Amino acid sequence: MASMGKFVVISVACLVAHEASAAFCAQDGSDYSYTESVSSSPDTRTVVANGCPNHPWYQLNDRKPYLNTWEGHVTYTMPLYPQFVGSTTSPSSGSPAIDLSQTGSPIGILFNGGKLFSPYAGSETGQVKNYSTSATYLIGSTFDQCGCFTTLHFGCHVPPHCLLNQLGQTSGSHSPQIGWAFDGFPVYGPRGPGGVMMQTCSITGGTYGAAVCTDDCGGYYQNDGTIDEYYYRYYIQGTYDDGDSCSNPGCTSPGADYYPNTPVCFGGCCPSGVTCKSFVKACPTGGTSSKGYGALTPTAPTINGLTLSSGLPANSGACSCHGLSADNCTSSSWATSASPWTTQEKSCPPTTTSSTVTATSSTVTTTSSTATTTSSTATTTSSTVTTATSSTVTATSSTATTTSSTVTATSSTSTRTTTTTTTTATTTLRSTTAPGSVTVTKVKGTLDLDVLNCTMFTEREGAILAVAAGIASATGVDAKSVLVTLTCSRRLSSDDLSVRRLEAVNVAYEITIPAGSTITAESVKNAIVTSGSAGLATKIAAAMTAAGITDIVVKVNSISMPAVEIPVSDAVASRVALVAMLGLWMWW
Ligand SMILES: *[C@@H]1O[C@H](CO)[C@@H](O)[C@H](O)[C@H]1NC(C)=O
Ligand SMILES: *[C@@H]1O[C@H](CO)[C@@H](O)[C@H](O)[C@H]1NC(C)=O
Ligand SMILES: *[C@@H]1O[C@H](CO)[C@@H](O)[C@H](O)[C@H]1NC(C)=O
Repeated sequence: MASMGKFVVISVACLVAHEASAAFCAQDGSDYSYTESVSSSPDTRTVVANGCPNHPWYQLNDRKPYLNTWEGHVTYTMPLYPQFVGSTTSPSSGSPAIDLSQTGSPIGILFNGGKLFSPYAGSETGQVKNYSTSATYLIGSTFDQCGCFTTLHFGCHVPPHCLLNQLGQTSGSHSPQIGWAFDGFPVYGPRGPGGVMMQTCSITGGTYGAAVCTDDCGGYYQNDGTIDEYYYRYYIQGTYDDGDSCSNPGCTSPGADYYPNTPVCFGGCCPSGVTCKSFVKACPTGGTSSKGYGALTPTAPTINGLTLSSGLPANSGACSCHGLSADNCTSSSWATSASPWTTQEKSCPPTTTSSTVTATSSTVTTTSSTATTTSSTATTTSSTVTTATSSTVTATSSTATTTSSTVTATSSTSTRTTTTTTTTATTTLRSTTAPGSVTVTKVKGTLDLDVLNCTMFTEREGAILAVAAGIASATGVDAKSVLVTLTCSRRLSSDDLSVRRLEAVNVAYEITIPAGSTITAESVKNAIVTSGSAGLATKIAAAMTAAGITDIVVKVNSISMPAVEIPVSDAVASRVALVAMLGLWMWW
């Protein structure tokens, strides 16, 4: 009596990417490594850092910082004698300067091993123009007890509380230097001369060049040698706490008065002969840049009695790994939509031993990945979906095994960083009409979804059915004629590393339109195009709600142009092809 003549095939294939050593930074901060040296041929400062902080970190998103070996993210070279291309009289970022408002890769390196990022929050939110479009506002709730975030990078967009504390920050004096910008100028904490909390002159109303306030980049031109022997430097502007708090997220996230918290443009350029980050443009020839330093004898700095040539000691003032906890912020100015992750994870090593945390389910390699396909078994227990067209698909205790399946690991590259996609699992579901119906046309295409946790999504009972039902609902076809394959991937591009908190789900769908159907392939195709991302997201959300899945939010990122296929109109041939493709038929 169960669904007559209906069948469901579920195949799950696991793809194990061959990985080069990819390990996460130890959560107690013990993996930190930082060295700094200077060279005169060419005049270069070189920092080598492995991306791990010198203090415990706390995960407020789905990512952990890698002990990284990524190309371009290990050795940083910058000008030893910085050259200035900004203006000494105009605070405007429109004056000659290097724009960073869409730069998603690190713009500097901090002494705690953290990478400095501009206020840009990533391609999803677009060019940063003001506080409400900045990372601090949009994702400030994911900045941890030290003011930094853990993604694939450990990086900072606001004053790093723990580092400031370790380097001797007090309220009445100039902040310590906390790192280097990649144009070669120093980066300080939030306090300028006399301990003043630095802000832009446009906010304070001060006269740039005369008052103690920064230009619109977040930099301060002052060449009298009272701060340092540079003529220009940056401040990480904004409020901070003591640096020993265990609360997560760090609750003193700065408000609009301190925008930009980190440089949104550079006043320096790349002198000839020095290898700089690509976005640090070459200094113009013909004297439009000026010397950015005075009586300078460049070395690796010594700050608060700590010499940076071999990095800082572990930060004993920071909250211990075991003491870290999630907390509620009573006051914060960040976007409410960016609530902290609920799946916070803590994996502190035992207190007395050193240990290595290795990658578990996700892997990143710098080389092309080799895929191994394994066979596995999937079991579903009674998942039911009701669609808007009121068709019901019921899968009861079905088990399916694939003997062979094709899983493709794709890799994409960005201009700056080798990027690897790791596929964790592919889930395929087919719910179709009884064999015997003649296949006439198919509409095929793909959707890119974003979810918080792809594994959780694909493993959730009914989720794949809901995707199929959502597509069916949007196109007017019966849900039983929609074949859906879900593939998890991690798409990493250097421009998105700091912000991509969501995981990608690739949905490949295939809609079979039987002979004699009143719905045509063209109308199905048009319905998908017309629905668009927003329309499909609404339909999938409705189907998920109908399936009782209310805790997973699905965003439709993009839709491919559906393709209409007209295969051999022979039922037997089609079925044989299907069997070959899917490996198994399930009947009940
Ligand atoms: C910030 O910039 C965005 C984008 O240009 C703009 O829509 C918004 O009104 C600005 N917000 C403020 C407070 O100026
Ligand atoms: C945050 O506050 C809510 C409501 O008071 C409480 O239920 C929750 O447990 C708190 N969360 C944390 C992590 O303290
Ligand atoms: C994602 O979900 C899976 C399955 O529920 C879980 O094992 C994993 O820890 C989750 N990942 C994160 C980062 O929360």
